[in-house]
Amino acid sequence: MDGNGRWARERGLPRSEGHRRGYEALREIVKASTDMGIEILTVYAFSSENWNRPRDEVDALMNLMADAARRELPTLQEYGVRVVVSGRLDGLPDRARQSLLEDMEATCANRRLILNLAINYGGRNEIIDAARSIAKEAVEGRLSPDEIDEKLFKRYLYQPDLPDPDLLIRTASELRVSNFLLWQIAYAEIWVTDVLWPDFTPETLAQAIADYQKRTRRFGAVVED
Ligand code: IPE
Ligand code: MG
Repeated sequence: MDGNGRWARERGLPRSEGHRRGYEALREIVKASTDMGIEILTVYAFSSENWNRPRDEVDALMNLMADAARRELPTLQEYGVRVVVSGRLDGLPDRARQSLLEDMEATCANRRLILNLAINYGGRNEIIDAARSIAKEAVEGRLSPDEIDEKLFKRYLYQPDLPDPDLLIRTASELRVSNFLLWQIAYAEIWVTDVLWPDFTPETLAQAIADYQKRTRRFGAVVED
């Protein structure tokens, strides 16, 4: 969800105000997703590299996430949204971690939309965490290295039950992957927009999906037209 800082700068506002408006945009996108029949929405809210930002910006983001997780619970229930979190939850401040855990637990039976929040998330960390768990099992004799294949590896990722994303939306004109879902995006279709995240609306999302629907996915094979 890139471009919050630029959105704020263009208006002479503090970056934290951009993040607050970004959260409001996300609210609308989650609601619209339930309407549009989207089953899984993963959003990159805070990366493992975002700790390198100034202390006051990191604090503002952590407080915003903790407050939002608490405040939105009734709405999540109303819309049938199940919250899951991808990332190293134990590295978060207590209040943010607690509110997120509460949302996960309270919404676990909801079925309309899975909202996967990537927080303190890094694609390389995810792969390392999986490799570590697999290595431990191998050392303890519970699996043999020869059994390790794509299917087994996926079982050790943060969300083993979620399919790979079909569509990756990149806002604010950035043309890089930024350590997001490195394993899972192998064949994702990428859609880039210059829209800054706080300006991203359900109409922008509908445009991304309409463009996606015109593409032919080959997954490395040949498809005759
Ligand atoms: C939001 O946008 C990213 C996070 C929520 C951490 P940025 O803060 O990266 O916005 P720009 O790139 O400065 O515009
Ligand atoms: Mg940015």
